[in-house]
Amino acid sequence: MRRHRVAAMGGDGIGPEVVQAAVEVLRVAAERDGGFALQFDDFDWGSAYYRQHGRMMPADGVDRLRGYDAILFGAVGAPDIPDHVTLWGLRLAICQGFDQYANVRPTRVLPGITSPLRHVAGPELDWLIVRENSEGEYAGVGGRAHQGLPIEVASDVSVMTRAGVTRIMRYAFALARSRPRKLLTVVTKSNAQRHAMVMWDEIAAEVARDFPDVTWDKMLVDAMTMRMVAKPASLDTIVATNLHADILSDLAAALAGSVGIAPTANINPERDAPSMFEPIHGSAFDITGKGIANPVGTFWTGVMMLEHLGEPQAAARLMRAIEKVTADPALHTPDLGGQATTRQVTAAVCAALAGAND
Ligand code: IPM
Ligand code: MG
Repeated sequence: MRRHRVAAMGGDGIGPEVVQAAVEVLRVAAERDGGFALQFDDFDWGSAYYRQHGRMMPADGVDRLRGYDAILFGAVGAPDIPDHVTLWGLRLAICQGFDQYANVRPTRVLPGITSPLRHVAGPELDWLIVRENSEGEYAGVGGRAHQGLPIEVASDVSVMTRAGVTRIMRYAFALARSRPRKLLTVVTKSNAQRHAMVMWDEIAAEVARDFPDVTWDKMLVDAMTMRMVAKPASLDTIVATNLHADILSDLAAALAGSVGIAPTANINPERDAPSMFEPIHGSAFDITGKGIANPVGTFWTGVMMLEHLGEPQAAARLMRAIEKVTADPALHTPDLGGQATTRQVTAAVCAALAGAND
């Protein structure tokens, strides 16, 4: 029996609710499969931990996670703690500590879900966004001086390295090659940013030579937003910098019907440290504790985790169960215009899994 050890970290807001739901569903997925077992260990790090201990996680937090095969993460962020403290103290500390440099965000319109784009039902919108996840605008380089004085100065410097750009390009080209259309769009802004983004373009062209079977094009990020809306079917795999992909992936999630559905994986492709899987929606304090958070984003995240753990069959089975449930409007949570609860959606996915005859 294959065993996978998973660190389950709900974090803040609705994070614990959706992670708990996903743990339940993943347990059923493992049982149904029969070939592997999942061991979940709970971690209570996040804003509540911060209020008690003055930090988001223990000083040796990253090391404590190192032995796990994967991390299932909920959300981070609280109204009473500055966002940059919660973010850098936990999520980014883990992403950067484990060099999870590839952030992968699939976007599709699932059965039963309505895209705000007219005429888009399914295959016209099937994207895989690859976000550079270790440097660029999120490098953390910059500073602030003379606070409060008229001469106050502040800077956030976007840092790109040849090594960092090359590895994300290679990852994106390889991913594009693995998909049927073998199509990659490289997002850039080299018309205005004339140093790092120009290097980004050059490295894309260099890496492309090793992938002659991948068709690729280049798109300025502003024009890219229009193309995503006007010609969604012209896109397949997309690679962009940390900040550009952050913005584009929210647009993608909205075009696919709800941010409550979108999953993401922070991948360490070399597998020398655990990768981290999370829904993209965030902590959503307006609905925390109401039992109506959409768990589908975390379930889909679970699919990505199973794929990464080398359980493609169980992953595919779970995805089919999710799609069976989204197809039924009676099982839509309020973010999708329905009235279903987190519990009802979770129970329905578990039932679909248990009843799967493949
Ligand atoms: C995301 C989120 C984060 C990001 C926030 C919470 C800082 O928007 O994962 O897309 O910008 O990276
Ligand atoms: Mg974002």
